[in-house]
Amino acid sequence: MYRSHTCGELREEHIENNITLSGWVHKTRDKGFVVWIDLRDRFGITQLIFDEERTSKELLEQARSLGREFVIQIKGTVLERASKNANIPTGNIEVLVQELTILNESKTPPFTIENDTDGGEDIRMKYRYLDIRRNIVKNNLIFRSKVSMEVRKYLSDGGFIEVETPYLIKSTPEGARDFVVPSRMNEGQFYALPQSPQTFKQLLMVGGMDKYFQIVKCFRDEDLRADRQPEFTQIDCEMAFVEQEDILNAFEGLTKHLLKEIKGIDITSFPRMTYDNAMAKYGNDKPDIRFGMEFGELNAVAQHKEFNVFNTAELVVGIAIPGAATYTRKEIDKLIDWVRRPQVGAKGMVYVKCNEDGTFKSSVDKFYDQEDLANWAKVTGAKAGDLICVLSGDTNATRAQLSALRMEMAERLDLRKPEEFAPLWVIDFPLLELDEETGNYHAMHHPFTSPKPGQLELLDTNPGAVKANAYDLVLNGNEIGGGSIRIHDKETQATMFKHLGFTPEEAKEQFGFLMDAFQYGAPPHGGIAFGLDRLVSILGGQETIRDFIAFPKNNSGRDVMIDAPAPIDDEQLKELRLQLNLES
Ligand code: AMO
Repeated sequence: MYRSHTCGELREEHIENNITLSGWVHKTRDKGFVVWIDLRDRFGITQLIFDEERTSKELLEQARSLGREFVIQIKGTVLERASKNANIPTGNIEVLVQELTILNESKTPPFTIENDTDGGEDIRMKYRYLDIRRNIVKNNLIFRSKVSMEVRKYLSDGGFIEVETPYLIKSTPEGARDFVVPSRMNEGQFYALPQSPQTFKQLLMVGGMDKYFQIVKCFRDEDLRADRQPEFTQIDCEMAFVEQEDILNAFEGLTKHLLKEIKGIDITSFPRMTYDNAMAKYGNDKPDIRFGMEFGELNAVAQHKEFNVFNTAELVVGIAIPGAATYTRKEIDKLIDWVRRPQVGAKGMVYVKCNEDGTFKSSVDKFYDQEDLANWAKVTGAKAGDLICVLSGDTNATRAQLSALRMEMAERLDLRKPEEFAPLWVIDFPLLELDEETGNYHAMHHPFTSPKPGQLELLDTNPGAVKANAYDLVLNGNEIGGGSIRIHDKETQATMFKHLGFTPEEAKEQFGFLMDAFQYGAPPHGGIAFGLDRLVSILGGQETIRDFIAFPKNNSGRDVMIDAPAPIDDEQLKELRLQLNLES
């Protein structure tokens, strides 16, 4: 038996017990006459003691010879500690060691296994298995497991069944590029890894497997960001005989359950906001509603004066930044530089200081009097002491720019509290999105999403105006889930493909199997998928999903630990009948 207890288990009630522990040498303190070793495993740390009085000379020497991260087994007696450590659960006891076995030696690790490690990101990723020994990463993985378990419990209690769908499939369009896998047995042909199990879960509904879920890996070849990985995990769900309302209620339930079980928080407010409203009020389809700073549209009160920049703009819009009227000229100039960075892209920014005495001082005093500015304050909800920041230009671009400023100011003012949770549904998304570059429309969610009732006809006349039965779940400014009510008849699906620029042949070639299935009694159905990595990291108070994934990819999509992707050898290429032509 390697151990009688874990390193996190022993308490005062175990005093005088003879125990066996196994673990890693976390830290050694050698005071000459006494040596303490912190022994660590996943469950905690236990202090071992060796001293000149009670420990044999050989054993003391053996303890001294141990390096960091050696794996050892000890047998000893639990004693009450002379100086207790209230910071750890085992802090009242220590173990006087009688026998020590080295189970494995360790090279000196390339960074310290501490919360505040000296290792940079690159080295920690290369030695991820050592990084996982650190409390931060370890606890994130334990936390993730807890969330997954709660999800499974809730859905299973609600009558959902978990069904696995294949990974070697044909392309499912979710808007990213596919990762492809060559087929040895089918020369010149490729599988695609699923961007989501979308079509399969719909086929499961046709198959009568109502109330499906799956915690499932998805693969998308897209540029990486803090909240994106090329392989990530979805909580994927689908239900038959449902309307949007049924899905929203079911998954509001899941979200509330998780917040209660994982965070101990009772969510009383779960607002629904239309896409149009979210864009107008926050410039963003995933608004963080934990703080105000809502947009005030100023066209009516700022246009038709002498200020041409505003007169020629499609949209003039501002936000009130709380308490920022005290900003110096230099600080405001810096803010203007910030919005003019290419990443934000504003041409400039007009500001109004709302002084404590009720007067206003603006960068456009030449064009606007105090009454005008008082109106701006009213529209933006600015109070004495606030700074109104105003941007103008094309509607979409200006909203995106002001949204970036709003989020930046919320960060700077510490308004994005990680332990505060404000979920909401964003509903009534447009069905189609115009690709400005190509002039083509593509599905905003995916091509299987149904238009709102009665809007199908609009597809011919005003496709951009058609609203979808699609919804996103937003938590603290992050899209953590998205779904829709699906098209379930062949004709509508064919019309949809036509509007997305597919010829009937292309539609048949790519999605014939789904259209065929729709002819065999497909029930009305709909569903949603949560991004598990995102959900877990936000519940964990962070926004970088990598920290909650055991073996994540770096920013170039590489696993630097196993060094993947990597070339394959000629033999494998030959077997697959592939030829590399890297020049072209
Ligand atoms: P969607 O594409 O919106 O919908 O994805 C669902 C959720 O998955 C998460 N997500 C990601 N997380 C990490 N890295 C990524 N690269 C990544 N991409 C997406 C997001 C997102 O909200 N089949 C549909 C669902 C449906 O209609 O039922 C789908 O995949 O949190």
